[in-house]
Amino acid sequence: MAATDSPRDIRIFETAEEVARAAADYFVETAEKSISAEGRFSVALAGGSTPRRTYQLLASEEYRNRVRWSQVHIFFGDERCVPPTHPDSNYRMAEEAMISLLPIPEPNVHRMVGEGDAVANASLYEGELQAFFDGAPWPRFNLVLLGMGDDGHTASLFPSTEALNETRAWVVANWVEKFKTYRITLTAPAINHAANIVFLVAGAGKAERLLEVLRGPRNPRQLPAQLIEPVNGSLVWLVNKAAAARL
Ligand code: 6PG
Repeated sequence: MAATDSPRDIRIFETAEEVARAAADYFVETAEKSISAEGRFSVALAGGSTPRRTYQLLASEEYRNRVRWSQVHIFFGDERCVPPTHPDSNYRMAEEAMISLLPIPEPNVHRMVGEGDAVANASLYEGELQAFFDGAPWPRFNLVLLGMGDDGHTASLFPSTEALNETRAWVVANWVEKFKTYRITLTAPAINHAANIVFLVAGAGKAERLLEVLRGPRNPRQLPAQLIEPVNGSLVWLVNKAAAARL
């Protein structure tokens, strides 16, 4: 049983494995509620190591029959500018850990294209989202999964980057100077219009930054994870003890 910290919903688990499991459980529950209410479930996946384990669990014998996969639409919160076969591709990670192992109809997998022109790819993805959300002013994902980097980034919203100022676009190509490359990312307002947002944070290397993000002064230019504040939805932090050590 996780300890709960109010008023924020921060759930602290012993191990990273338990965090991954809690995220898989949350995915299953949200998928079933969304499919019952709307006939479909839209989720934006995160890259990174903790989510990978969640995806593996979802594809496991234990979990796979608990979701009506034919009604699931997979989107991505961010992507590196590489082809889908590249080891750094978030799509490749999700494909190997989960998508290829589950009966998700191919048109329901909405890959963020990483290869080619990043600006054009971002605008193509925004168009795909606009078609899916059928003229809504903002996308309303049933679930957005997020990680937090040890520099305070989330999705590909990195400290001091242009995308942090975005107030209108849903998806942008964000130049990340420290990697000398673009990343394609959902913007903070696009994430914030989701019905459910879940952060997965594990490891002692995140402890200091997590303290700053959750308890420190508001400074989203340096701590982009602070930009995540749902407009009309829920935000849950699934954290392991090592990452929560300073809270
Ligand atoms: C990416 C991610 C990114 C990730 C964090 C945390 O493409 O890199 O989407 O935002 O979630 O970097 O990653 P870890 O869970 O591996 O620490």
